Amino acid sequence: MTAPDFQSWAAAGQQRIEAFLQRALPQPDIAPQRLHAAMRYAVLGAGKRVRPLLAYAAGELSQADPERVTVAGAAVELIHAYSLVHDDLPCMDDDVLRRGKPTCHVEFDEATALLVGDALQSLSFQLLGEYRLADDAKMQLDMIKLLAIAAGSRGMAGGQAIDLAAVGKTLSVPELEFMHIHKTGALIRAAAVLGGRCGNGLSEAEFAHVDTFAKAVGLAFQVVDDVLDAEAPTATLGKTAGKDAEQGKPTYVSAMGITQAKALAGELREQALKAIAPFGARGARLAQLADFIVLRQF
Ligand code: IPE
Ligand code: IPE
Ligand code: MG
Ligand code: MG
Ligand code: MG
Repeated sequence: MTAPDFQSWAAAGQQRIEAFLQRALPQPDIAPQRLHAAMRYAVLGAGKRVRPLLAYAAGELSQADPERVTVAGAAVELIHAYSLVHDDLPCMDDDVLRRGKPTCHVEFDEATALLVGDALQSLSFQLLGEYRLADDAKMQLDMIKLLAIAAGSRGMAGGQAIDLAAVGKTLSVPELEFMHIHKTGALIRAAAVLGGRCGNGLSEAEFAHVDTFAKAVGLAFQVVDDVLDAEAPTATLGKTAGKDAEQGKPTYVSAMGITQAKALAGELREQALKAIAPFGARGARLAQLADFIVLRQF
Protein backbone atom coordinates (compact mmCIF):
# COMPACT_ATOMS: atom_id res chain seq x y z
CA MET A 1 0.00 0.00 0.00
CA THR A 2 1.41 3.40 -0.91
CA ALA A 3 1.34 6.14 1.73
CA PRO A 4 -1.28 8.87 1.17
CA ASP A 5 -0.05 12.14 -0.31
CA PHE A 6 0.64 14.95 2.13
CA GLN A 7 -2.65 16.78 1.50
CA SER A 8 -4.77 13.70 2.24
CA TRP A 9 -2.63 12.73 5.22
CA ALA A 10 -2.87 16.25 6.69
CA ALA A 11 -6.63 16.45 6.06
CA ALA A 12 -7.14 13.14 7.87
CA GLY A 13 -5.09 14.35 10.85
CA GLN A 14 -6.94 17.65 10.96
CA GLN A 15 -10.29 15.85 10.94
CA ARG A 16 -9.20 13.47 13.65
CA ILE A 17 -8.07 16.34 15.90
CA GLU A 18 -11.22 18.33 15.19
CA ALA A 19 -13.44 15.38 16.09
CA PHE A 20 -11.54 14.78 19.34
CA LEU A 21 -11.62 18.47 20.31
CA GLN A 22 -15.35 18.58 19.55
CA ARG A 23 -15.88 15.88 22.17
CA ALA A 24 -13.29 17.10 24.67
CA LEU A 25 -14.58 20.67 24.86
CA PRO A 26 -17.63 21.07 27.08
CA GLN A 27 -20.85 21.31 25.08
CA PRO A 28 -22.26 24.84 24.79
CA ASP A 29 -25.49 23.90 26.61
CA ILE A 30 -23.53 23.04 29.76
CA ALA A 31 -23.23 25.84 32.34
CA PRO A 32 -21.55 28.27 32.17
CA GLN A 33 -22.88 28.31 28.62
CA ARG A 34 -21.29 31.53 27.47
CA LEU A 35 -17.79 30.46 28.54
CA HIS A 36 -18.20 27.06 26.90
CA ALA A 37 -19.50 28.65 23.69
CA ALA A 38 -16.50 30.99 23.67
CA MET A 39 -14.04 28.12 24.27
CA ARG A 40 -15.51 26.23 21.33
CA TYR A 41 -15.47 29.38 19.21
CA ALA A 42 -11.76 29.85 19.89
CA VAL A 43 -10.73 26.27 19.18
CA LEU A 44 -13.02 24.63 16.64
CA GLY A 45 -13.49 24.95 12.91
CA ALA A 46 -10.27 26.53 11.71
CA GLY A 47 -6.54 26.70 12.25
CA LYS A 48 -3.90 24.81 10.36
CA ARG A 49 -3.39 22.34 13.23
CA VAL A 50 0.34 22.30 12.50
CA ARG A 51 1.22 21.26 16.04
CA PRO A 52 -1.02 18.16 16.10
CA LEU A 53 0.26 17.26 12.62
CA LEU A 54 3.81 17.39 13.93
CA ALA A 55 2.75 15.15 16.79
CA TYR A 56 1.23 12.65 14.35
CA ALA A 57 4.33 12.63 12.15
CA ALA A 58 6.66 12.07 15.10
CA GLY A 59 4.20 9.51 16.49
CA GLU A 60 4.32 7.55 13.24
CA LEU A 61 8.11 7.47 13.49
CA SER A 62 7.92 6.01 17.00
CA GLN A 63 5.11 3.58 16.12
CA ALA A 64 2.76 5.26 18.57
CA ASP A 65 -0.94 4.47 18.85
CA PRO A 66 -2.65 7.32 16.91
CA GLU A 67 -5.31 7.56 19.61
CA ARG A 68 -2.66 8.46 22.14
CA VAL A 69 -1.07 10.94 19.75
CA THR A 70 -4.47 12.55 19.18
CA VAL A 71 -4.71 13.33 22.89
CA ALA A 72 -1.17 14.73 23.00
CA GLY A 73 -1.73 16.79 19.83
CA ALA A 74 -5.05 18.10 21.10
CA ALA A 75 -3.46 19.11 24.42
CA VAL A 76 -0.85 21.18 22.60
CA GLU A 77 -3.48 22.66 20.27
CA LEU A 78 -5.55 23.76 23.30
CA ILE A 79 -2.55 25.59 24.75
CA HIS A 80 -1.90 27.13 21.34
CA ALA A 81 -5.54 28.25 20.98
CA TYR A 82 -5.41 29.80 24.46
CA SER A 83 -2.21 31.63 23.53
CA LEU A 84 -3.92 33.08 20.46
CA VAL A 85 -6.95 34.28 22.44
CA HIS A 86 -4.70 36.06 24.93
CA ASP A 87 -2.30 37.28 22.21
CA ASP A 88 -5.21 39.08 20.54
CA LEU A 89 -6.45 40.88 23.68
CA PRO A 90 -6.24 44.69 23.72
CA CYS A 91 -3.53 44.51 26.42
CA MET A 92 -1.39 42.41 24.09
CA ASP A 93 -1.58 42.69 20.26
CA ASP A 94 -5.07 44.20 20.17
CA ASP A 95 -6.27 42.25 17.15
CA VAL A 96 -9.81 42.02 15.84
CA LEU A 97 -9.44 39.19 13.32
CA ARG A 98 -8.27 35.61 13.94
CA ARG A 99 -8.71 32.55 11.74
CA GLY A 100 -10.95 34.64 9.48
CA LYS A 101 -13.40 35.52 12.28
CA PRO A 102 -13.69 38.28 14.89
CA THR A 103 -11.28 37.57 17.75
CA CYS A 104 -12.70 35.95 20.89
CA HIS A 105 -12.85 39.18 22.92
CA VAL A 106 -14.59 40.98 20.03
CA GLU A 107 -17.17 38.23 19.52
CA PHE A 108 -17.70 37.78 23.28
CA ASP A 109 -15.97 40.21 25.68
CA GLU A 110 -12.56 40.71 27.24
CA ALA A 111 -13.30 39.01 30.54
CA THR A 112 -14.71 35.98 28.75
CA ALA A 113 -11.64 35.82 26.48
CA LEU A 114 -9.38 35.90 29.53
CA LEU A 115 -11.30 33.03 31.09
CA VAL A 116 -11.32 31.10 27.80
CA GLY A 117 -7.54 31.11 27.93
CA ASP A 118 -7.47 30.01 31.55
CA ALA A 119 -9.97 27.22 30.94
CA LEU A 120 -8.33 25.96 27.73
CA GLN A 121 -5.02 25.67 29.52
CA SER A 122 -6.64 23.68 32.33
CA LEU A 123 -8.48 21.44 29.88
CA SER A 124 -5.20 20.66 28.13
CA PHE A 125 -3.64 19.32 31.32
CA GLN A 126 -6.87 17.58 32.30
CA LEU A 127 -6.65 15.53 29.09
CA LEU A 128 -3.02 14.65 29.74
CA GLY A 129 -4.03 13.38 33.17
CA GLU A 130 -7.16 11.56 31.99
CA TYR A 131 -5.87 9.48 29.09
CA ARG A 132 -3.04 7.00 28.98
CA LEU A 133 -0.33 8.36 26.72
CA ALA A 134 2.68 6.20 27.55
CA ASP A 135 3.04 2.63 28.82
CA ASP A 136 5.33 3.88 31.55
CA ALA A 137 3.68 6.14 34.16
CA LYS A 138 6.93 7.99 34.83
CA MET A 139 7.21 8.76 31.10
CA GLN A 140 3.67 10.15 31.12
CA LEU A 141 4.53 12.43 34.05
CA ASP A 142 7.62 13.60 32.17
CA MET A 143 5.42 14.39 29.16
CA ILE A 144 3.05 16.47 31.27
CA LYS A 145 5.99 18.33 32.76
CA LEU A 146 7.42 18.93 29.30
CA LEU A 147 4.25 20.64 28.12
CA ALA A 148 4.00 22.65 31.34
CA ILE A 149 7.52 23.98 30.81
CA ALA A 150 6.91 24.68 27.11
CA ALA A 151 3.77 26.69 27.91
CA GLY A 152 5.15 28.56 30.91
CA SER A 153 7.46 31.42 31.74
CA ARG A 154 10.45 29.56 30.32
CA GLY A 155 8.51 28.77 27.17
CA MET A 156 5.57 30.36 25.35
CA ALA A 157 4.37 32.72 28.11
CA GLY A 158 7.93 33.90 28.68
CA GLY A 159 8.37 34.53 24.96
CA GLN A 160 5.19 36.57 24.95
CA ALA A 161 6.54 38.66 27.84
CA ILE A 162 9.71 39.32 25.87
CA ASP A 163 7.62 40.23 22.81
CA LEU A 164 5.61 42.81 24.76
CA ALA A 165 8.70 44.30 26.39
CA ALA A 166 10.32 44.66 22.96
CA VAL A 167 7.64 46.86 21.38
CA GLY A 168 9.21 49.97 19.89
CA LYS A 169 12.73 48.61 20.40
CA THR A 170 15.30 47.18 18.05
CA LEU A 171 16.42 43.66 18.90
CA SER A 172 19.61 42.03 17.69
CA VAL A 173 19.22 38.82 15.71
CA PRO A 174 20.26 36.65 18.71
CA GLU A 175 17.69 38.47 20.87
CA LEU A 176 15.01 37.90 18.23
CA GLU A 177 15.94 34.27 18.03
CA PHE A 178 15.62 33.94 21.81
CA MET A 179 12.16 35.56 21.72
CA HIS A 180 10.89 33.45 18.80
CA ILE A 181 12.25 30.17 20.15
CA HIS A 182 10.27 30.81 23.31
CA LYS A 183 7.01 32.35 22.13
CA THR A 184 6.48 29.96 19.20
CA GLY A 185 9.26 27.38 19.07
CA ALA A 186 8.61 25.90 22.49
CA LEU A 187 5.09 24.60 21.75
CA ILE A 188 6.08 23.35 18.30
CA ARG A 189 8.96 21.45 19.80
CA ALA A 190 6.71 20.07 22.54
CA ALA A 191 4.21 18.86 19.93
CA ALA A 192 6.80 16.79 18.07
CA VAL A 193 8.42 15.41 21.22
CA LEU A 194 5.10 14.51 22.88
CA GLY A 195 3.88 12.79 19.71
CA GLY A 196 7.06 10.76 19.58
CA ARG A 197 6.93 9.89 23.28
CA CYS A 198 3.50 8.28 22.81
CA GLY A 199 5.35 5.36 21.20
CA ASN A 200 8.38 3.23 22.02
CA GLY A 201 9.90 2.93 18.58
CA LEU A 202 12.66 5.53 18.82
CA SER A 203 16.04 5.31 20.52
CA GLU A 204 17.22 8.30 22.56
CA ALA A 205 19.66 9.17 19.77
CA GLU A 206 16.77 9.17 17.29
CA PHE A 207 14.78 11.32 19.68
CA ALA A 208 17.56 13.86 19.63
CA HIS A 209 17.20 14.03 15.82
CA VAL A 210 13.46 14.70 16.14
CA ASP A 211 14.12 17.36 18.76
CA THR A 212 16.77 19.11 16.62
CA PHE A 213 14.34 19.03 13.71
CA ALA A 214 11.53 20.50 15.81
CA LYS A 215 13.78 23.26 17.15
CA ALA A 216 14.63 24.38 13.63
CA VAL A 217 11.05 24.27 12.32
CA GLY A 218 9.80 26.02 15.46
CA LEU A 219 12.02 29.00 14.77
CA ALA A 220 11.30 28.82 11.04
CA PHE A 221 7.59 28.93 11.84
CA GLN A 222 7.82 32.34 13.49
CA VAL A 223 10.27 33.72 10.90
CA VAL A 224 7.69 32.84 8.24
CA ASP A 225 4.91 34.31 10.40
CA ASP A 226 6.89 37.58 10.46
CA VAL A 227 7.33 37.47 6.67
CA LEU A 228 3.64 36.74 6.08
CA ASP A 229 2.59 39.57 8.39
CA ALA A 230 4.59 41.93 6.17
CA GLU A 231 3.70 40.42 2.82
CA ALA A 232 0.46 38.43 2.75
CA PRO A 233 -3.01 39.95 2.44
CA THR A 234 -5.48 39.89 5.33
CA ALA A 235 -7.88 37.77 3.26
CA THR A 236 -5.45 34.84 2.98
CA LEU A 237 -3.97 35.27 6.46
CA GLY A 238 -7.31 35.31 8.26
CA LYS A 239 -5.71 37.91 10.56
CA THR A 240 -4.95 41.59 10.04
CA ALA A 241 -1.88 41.99 7.83
CA GLY A 242 0.85 44.53 8.54
CA LYS A 243 0.28 44.58 12.30
CA ASP A 244 3.90 44.05 13.32
CA ALA A 245 5.17 47.18 11.58
CA GLU A 246 2.13 49.16 12.71
CA GLN A 247 2.72 48.21 16.33
CA GLY A 248 6.50 48.60 16.25
CA LYS A 249 7.22 44.93 16.91
CA PRO A 250 10.79 43.89 16.25
CA THR A 251 10.66 40.97 13.80
CA TYR A 252 13.02 39.17 11.44
CA VAL A 253 11.64 41.40 8.69
CA SER A 254 12.45 44.60 10.60
CA ALA A 255 15.86 43.23 11.62
CA MET A 256 17.14 41.89 8.31
CA GLY A 257 14.63 42.74 5.58
CA ILE A 258 12.19 40.44 3.84
CA THR A 259 14.64 38.82 1.42
CA GLN A 260 17.06 37.85 4.16
CA ALA A 261 14.26 36.67 6.42
CA LYS A 262 13.00 34.36 3.67
CA ALA A 263 16.54 33.11 3.09
CA LEU A 264 16.86 32.36 6.80
CA ALA A 265 13.59 30.39 6.75
CA GLY A 266 15.07 28.37 3.87
CA GLU A 267 18.27 27.75 5.84
CA LEU A 268 16.30 26.60 8.86
CA ARG A 269 14.38 24.23 6.61
CA GLU A 270 17.70 22.78 5.43
CA GLN A 271 18.85 22.38 9.04
CA ALA A 272 15.59 20.63 9.90
CA LEU A 273 15.87 18.24 6.95
CA LYS A 274 19.47 17.48 7.79
CA ALA A 275 18.49 16.55 11.35
CA ILE A 276 16.06 13.88 10.13
CA ALA A 277 18.22 12.62 7.25
CA PRO A 278 19.24 9.55 9.34
CA PHE A 279 15.60 8.35 9.17
CA GLY A 280 15.68 8.18 5.36
CA ALA A 281 12.24 7.60 3.84
CA ARG A 282 10.73 7.10 7.32
CA GLY A 283 11.20 10.85 7.92
CA ALA A 284 9.13 11.82 4.86
CA ARG A 285 6.14 13.19 6.82
CA LEU A 286 8.32 15.37 9.00
CA ALA A 287 10.11 16.61 5.89
CA GLN A 288 6.78 17.44 4.24
CA LEU A 289 5.74 19.35 7.35
CA ALA A 290 8.97 21.36 7.28
CA ASP A 291 8.16 22.25 3.67
CA PHE A 292 4.59 23.15 4.58
CA ILE A 293 5.77 25.41 7.42
CA VAL A 294 8.33 27.25 5.32
CA LEU A 295 6.41 27.45 2.03
CA ARG A 296 2.94 28.22 3.39
CA GLN A 297 1.04 31.33 2.30
CA PHE A 298 -1.05 31.71 5.47
C1 IPE B 1 -0.09 31.71 14.83
O1 IPE B 1 0.02 30.33 14.81
C2 IPE B 1 0.66 32.26 15.99
C3 IPE B 1 2.06 31.91 15.99
C4 IPE B 1 2.59 31.21 16.92
C5 IPE B 1 2.92 32.40 14.93
P1 IPE B 1 -0.57 29.48 13.61
O2 IPE B 1 -0.13 30.09 12.30
O3 IPE B 1 -0.25 28.04 13.82
O4 IPE B 1 -2.13 29.73 13.75
P2 IPE B 1 -3.37 28.78 13.39
O5 IPE B 1 -3.48 27.80 14.50
O6 IPE B 1 -3.09 28.11 12.07
O7 IPE B 1 -4.53 29.72 13.32
C1 IPE C 1 2.21 34.91 18.65
O1 IPE C 1 3.02 35.63 17.82
C2 IPE C 1 2.86 33.87 19.37
C3 IPE C 1 1.94 33.30 20.38
C4 IPE C 1 2.42 32.73 21.42
C5 IPE C 1 0.49 33.37 20.24
P1 IPE C 1 2.24 36.70 16.94
O2 IPE C 1 1.64 37.76 17.77
O3 IPE C 1 3.14 37.10 15.81
O4 IPE C 1 1.06 35.78 16.33
P2 IPE C 1 -0.03 36.31 15.34
O5 IPE C 1 0.68 36.88 14.15
O6 IPE C 1 -0.86 37.30 16.09
O7 IPE C 1 -0.78 35.05 14.98
MG1 MG D 1 1.92 38.57 19.62
MG1 MG E 1 -0.36 38.61 17.52
MG1 MG F 1 2.59 37.34 13.82
